[in-house]
Amino acid sequence: MLQNGSLFEKIKKYSDFTEKFMKKHVDALYENEDFAYAREAVKPLFDSFSYSLFAGGKRLRPFLVYEFCALCGASPESAVSYASAIEMTHTFSLIHDDLPCMDNDDMRRGKPTNHKVFGEDVALLAGDALFLYAPVIALDNGFDAERNLKAVRILSESAGVTGMIAGQQIDMWTESNAADKKTLTLLQKKKTGALFECACLLGCIAAGKYENTPEQSAAKSFAKHAGLAFQITDDVLDVCGDSKELGKNVGSDEANGKTTFVSLLGIEGAKVLAEEETELAKAALMAFSNAGKDVSSLYELSDYIINRKN
Ligand code: IPE
Ligand code: IPE
Ligand code: MG
Ligand code: MG
Ligand code: MG
Repeated sequence: MLQNGSLFEKIKKYSDFTEKFMKKHVDALYENEDFAYAREAVKPLFDSFSYSLFAGGKRLRPFLVYEFCALCGASPESAVSYASAIEMTHTFSLIHDDLPCMDNDDMRRGKPTNHKVFGEDVALLAGDALFLYAPVIALDNGFDAERNLKAVRILSESAGVTGMIAGQQIDMWTESNAADKKTLTLLQKKKTGALFECACLLGCIAAGKYENTPEQSAAKSFAKHAGLAFQITDDVLDVCGDSKELGKNVGSDEANGKTTFVSLLGIEGAKVLAEEETELAKAALMAFSNAGKDVSSLYELSDYIINRKN
């Protein structure tokens, strides 16, 4: 559960807004006339698709989209289709991450994992379907083709073979190979950092700020450091967290023999690195605050990322 306070009220407001938009799309899927004669046959797929999408989740990546869109001078709400697309992509990554052939986890977002409810076969398809629907929902806006092309390209690249999926591959490789800090940092940069960066850049793109703009450079720097702090904290919580509060099982990394920031640096060493990265993330925001923009929410979010309990 998100705690009280202005940051969390803001995250909740954006989360509700994003969910409403995604819900409209999911409802339309159920009503798709192609399946008029076979509603029961496709129902497990559609149920599985919406189960994980609406199972809760902090909705931090959509929040980053909205915040960077606002910092780049546009109305945050105008980025809703991009915010939905990154959340669908992230949710797909979680469903597949939990599968028995990956991390083999039973609990996610406070509920049984997708494959525990629907079976591995349906969960696999639901993940694929979310991944492929993300670029479709991304296009549901009034932007011109150039803007949408840039957005969809970055979404696919960030999630794909040189992005998050490459990170997942390196993550599995560490189960049977010794990884040093450099390899682990690359793993994190791809596994978690790629979608964090994508979220921040989608916000910039929604506001018409494309590559080589100072806004994109600042967003990339923020994402790099905040994303690293986020994953280090995820690794710490996997050891020190409370599974009820966390909404997922603890001890998964050790059970899978993963190399993590905790296995490499110890709990204290990992926490110190997360704090250093948080300061660097905040420093990256100065490019915006020097231009008179309000970075207070992202500042607070940076602290939340390392102090969170879930
Ligand atoms: C979990 O991400 C996966 C990682 C990248 C560590 P989140 O902790 O943001 O998951 P939800 O969306 O809140 O469930
Ligand atoms: C998963 O990292 C990141 C992605 C889903 C791409 P983890 O395996 O550490 O995430 P959790 O701890 O299961 O949420
Ligand atoms: Mg994993
Ligand atoms: Mg996992
Ligand atoms: Mg983890």
